[in-house]
Amino acid sequence: MFGNVLVTGGAGFIGSQLIKKILPISKHIYVIDDLSTGLRESIPDSEKITFIKESINNKKIIDEIMPKVEYIFHLACSNILKSVSDIELDLNTNLIGGFNLLQSAYKNCRMLKRFIYASTASVYGAATILPTKEEYYKIELPYAASKFSAEHYCSVYYTMYKLPISILRLSNVYGPGQTTLNPYCGVVAKFFEAINLKEPIIIYGNGNQTRDFTYIEDALSAFILAAINEKAIGQVYNVGTGIETSIISLANEIKLISNHSENLVKFRQKRPIDVVNRRNIDSSRIQEDLNWKINYTLSEGLKETFLWLKEEREK
Ligand SMILES: NC(=O)c1ccc[n+]([C@@H]2O[C@H](COP(=O)([O-])OP(=O)(O)OC[C@H]3O[C@@H](n4cnc5c(N)ncnc54)[C@H](O)[C@@H]3O)[C@@H](O)[C@H]2O)c1
Repeated sequence: MFGNVLVTGGAGFIGSQLIKKILPISKHIYVIDDLSTGLRESIPDSEKITFIKESINNKKIIDEIMPKVEYIFHLACSNILKSVSDIELDLNTNLIGGFNLLQSAYKNCRMLKRFIYASTASVYGAATILPTKEEYYKIELPYAASKFSAEHYCSVYYTMYKLPISILRLSNVYGPGQTTLNPYCGVVAKFFEAINLKEPIIIYGNGNQTRDFTYIEDALSAFILAAINEKAIGQVYNVGTGIETSIISLANEIKLISNHSENLVKFRQKRPIDVVNRRNIDSSRIQEDLNWKINYTLSEGLKETFLWLKEEREK
């Protein structure tokens, strides 16, 4: 179904799972990742995959790959935690890196069918309207600023140069493939890990803050639908469940699934990135346009995650 594909950030959580998913339906996948947080071993071994350990800021390399590909999935990023400790790295990776890809795709990609940009619900900051629709934005953290600015450049390349761009705003993706080997990984992986190590679960703040957790399989189906459906061109879509889960109830659910109800929870002061009290995004646009469906409840997704972690440990 896909011809040649470029996945940036393919050694990361979502990128590596996306590669596994599209490998059978792709001719060849070029993966570019500087391994700053990603893991080489997350990418399957296959003759159909070319892995390039490089930064998306390396224009020469990007220019060489672009003429070969028809689909671009841009997932490389400097994460939210790093964005406050190294604001320049955040800007250079998320905005300048994204711009480099767009410019190179425009100049070099003669057969481009889709450029999918993995953006984030972080552009909604501490939203005052819930569930939050795509029209809203509230930029508070450097990560939100750089990711949102790259969205604007996506709009420019779509409007001025007719680049077939789709933007997905993901919300707290979790599931198999998310590992604490990346110290910046999400809260679900961190909680499972704490339980496995019989260490306390650490919650920043009082735990009443909510997030909209999206299971990896549901997130991946959004990527594929946006890549194959013409309607997605020029669109920005929320990808979330519209269900709020407090961090404390997430911890309880994970304790229950892991059969470790005795595990302690410790509360710590909020960090600079903890600006969001409630997250709940409205994904009706992608459901209506692309017939995207949420197939996993949180408890189903957590059970799948638990089983995957168990298998990984037994390997
Ligand atoms: N995981 C989530 O919950 C979530 C939520 C919202 C948005 N997103 C977005 O989805 C995308 C993927 O997220 P993830 O959770 O897989 O992140 P991740 O941190 O696991 O993966 C990002 C990858 O990018 C690579 N990278 C960093 N800088 C690079 C550079 N300059 N050049 C090349 N590679 C570089 C890292 O090594 C890593 O493998 C990101 O763009 C992120 O903003 C993720």
